[in-house]
Amino acid sequence: MAFSFSLSTPTIPTLLFTLSLLLSFLTTPASSATFNCSATTTCQSLIDYVPENTTTLNAIKTLFNISHLRTLLGANNLPLSTAPTQNVTALQKILIPFTCLCSNGTGVSNKRPQYIVKPGDDLDHIATVVFSRLVKYQEIAAVNNIPDPSLIGIGKKLWIPLPCSCDEVNGERVVHYGHVVEAGSSVEAIATKYGTDQETLLRINGIADPKTLQANQVLDVPLKACSSSVSNNSLDAPLLVSNNTYVFTANNCVKCQCSPANNWTLQCEPSTVNSTGCPAMQCQGSSQLFLGNTTTSGCDQTTCTYAGYTNKTNILTTLATQSTCAAPPPDNNNNASRMGLQGSSWSFLFAAIHLALLLLHVLQ
Ligand SMILES: *[C@@H]1O[C@H](CO)[C@@H](O)[C@H](O)[C@H]1NC(C)=O
Ligand SMILES: *[C@@H]1O[C@H](CO)[C@@H](O)[C@H](O)[C@H]1NC(C)=O
Ligand SMILES: *[C@@H]1O[C@H](CO)[C@@H](O)[C@H](O)[C@H]1NC(C)=O
Ligand SMILES: *[C@@H]1O[C@H](CO)[C@@H](O)[C@H](O)[C@H]1NC(C)=O
Ligand SMILES: *[C@@H]1O[C@H](CO)[C@@H](O)[C@H](O)[C@H]1NC(C)=O
Ligand SMILES: *[C@@H]1O[C@H](CO)[C@@H](O)[C@H](O)[C@H]1NC(C)=O
Ligand SMILES: *[C@@H]1O[C@H](CO)[C@@H](O)[C@H](O)[C@H]1NC(C)=O
Ligand SMILES: *[C@@H]1O[C@H](CO)[C@@H](O)[C@H](O)[C@H]1NC(C)=O
Ligand SMILES: *[C@@H]1O[C@H](CO)[C@@H](O)[C@H](O)[C@H]1NC(C)=O
Ligand SMILES: *[C@@H]1O[C@H](CO)[C@@H](O)[C@H](O)[C@H]1NC(C)=O
Ligand SMILES: *[C@@H]1O[C@H](CO)[C@@H](O)[C@H](O)[C@H]1NC(C)=O
Ligand SMILES: *[C@@H]1O[C@H](CO)[C@@H](O)[C@H](O)[C@H]1NC(C)=O
Repeated sequence: MAFSFSLSTPTIPTLLFTLSLLLSFLTTPASSATFNCSATTTCQSLIDYVPENTTTLNAIKTLFNISHLRTLLGANNLPLSTAPTQNVTALQKILIPFTCLCSNGTGVSNKRPQYIVKPGDDLDHIATVVFSRLVKYQEIAAVNNIPDPSLIGIGKKLWIPLPCSCDEVNGERVVHYGHVVEAGSSVEAIATKYGTDQETLLRINGIADPKTLQANQVLDVPLKACSSSVSNNSLDAPLLVSNNTYVFTANNCVKCQCSPANNWTLQCEPSTVNSTGCPAMQCQGSSQLFLGNTTTSGCDQTTCTYAGYTNKTNILTTLATQSTCAAPPPDNNNNASRMGLQGSSWSFLFAAIHLALLLLHVLQ
């Protein structure tokens, strides 16, 4: 850590501050962490926020400097119709979406959230109470070039550097999620819940012994992102959307969601958010299909999928065809079990499509 106390000219406030920090260090478990990030880029990340007191979605949106409520709703897979005044009870986890910036091998939230110092605040209170230990006061001091943490003026704007990463994990692009460990949890259980493995979690978090895991520790958990057809030169490339979240892209003209029920393939459709400025999203090479439409012809199922955008008027689409009759015809003697298997993956797909349609209907 670049920051250190200057003890050459100790002042009473400094000493009191140091004492209070020592005390708080003894009574609260260390929890925040820095995540390695060697990529030279920005990306979208997630982190848990566990409010100490009952609050509202709107207050969380403001605290974390999120531009639009829909971004917060999408990260939590909440319906778009959710009211901003919706209560969030104390200790209920909310996922905070933010842009991650990698610099000097470490990932931190990109200049946001900005927090304005209030009367009675000190850096330790801001780090441990307001931002519930997602950062350390030293990290706030370092990125804001504060030489003396006991001297922060009321009204000063502070950048709160939340931990994050943009690095690939096991050769895959993922969404890094700062998971706040619950009491009684284990590395193994967290790995299983989020579709990764214990070795990966231990390695990327620099943990030697899984038994040292502590409640409230912020763990870097790589989430699998849905595969997409977004091209490299798209302004939103690589569009990484994780399990059970949705995002708006292409000037809010397109809504994309990721659901394991859709076989981890990103599902995009025209959104209703930007009602004025969106181009027609007719599929290139098809006069009838628009973004999100699917047609079936014999065994082939063709979907008009999102392929990115390059400017305000140019939203790219592509026709993705999937053959749905790969399996051989069932053998009369045990068609029940074979049909059962095929049927279940199909009913899954149908359920997913119906769910998506239903959701769309509800949201409108
Ligand atoms: C972030 O916070 C700063 C300071 O409170 C404010 O000026 C700015 O408008 C906020 N931005 C967003 C996107 O909420
Ligand atoms: C949130 O909680 C307050 C106080 O507990 C209550 O008055 C209010 O109706 C709640 N808001 C919603 C949207 O449920
Ligand atoms: C990165 O590290 C170098 C050398 O340690 C330092 O000079 C520079 O200020 C750091 N940059 C940031 C953004 O922290
Ligand atoms: C939660 O409420 C308590 C008691 O009112 C207060 O001391 C504390 O600062 C509050 N926490 C936050 C994060 O506002
Ligand atoms: C996907 O999300 C669901 C619900 O949020 C969760 O139960 C499931 O474990 C997640 N799966 C993976 C592989 O992350
Ligand atoms: C993070 O990067 C540093 C420097 O490259 C390395 O020494 C350390 O082992 C890395 N930590 C993890 C958890 O990968
Ligand atoms: C996209 O990037 C990948 C990896 O960098 C590269 O292999 C591929 O050729 C690129 N595709 C296009 C269309 O530029
Ligand atoms: C799911 O996706 C994988 C790889 O993208 C593909 O091989 C597999 O056939 C798909 N399964 C279904 C049921 O569509
Ligand atoms: C709507 O789209 C137009 C053009 O694509 C863009 O200029 C405008 O900023 C968008 N509005 C919103 C609210 O995203
Ligand atoms: C194609 O997509 C458009 C836009 O989402 C929708 O209005 C239309 O009903 C769809 N058509 C078919 C045949 O699914
Ligand atoms: C947007 O991109 C398309 C295709 O590259 C191009 O034809 C069009 O002129 C561009 N429009 C603007 C406003 O830049
Ligand atoms: C094969 O499946 C059909 C339809 O599910 C069923 O009516 C028939 O009895 C099954 N035949 C055998 C041999 O199980």
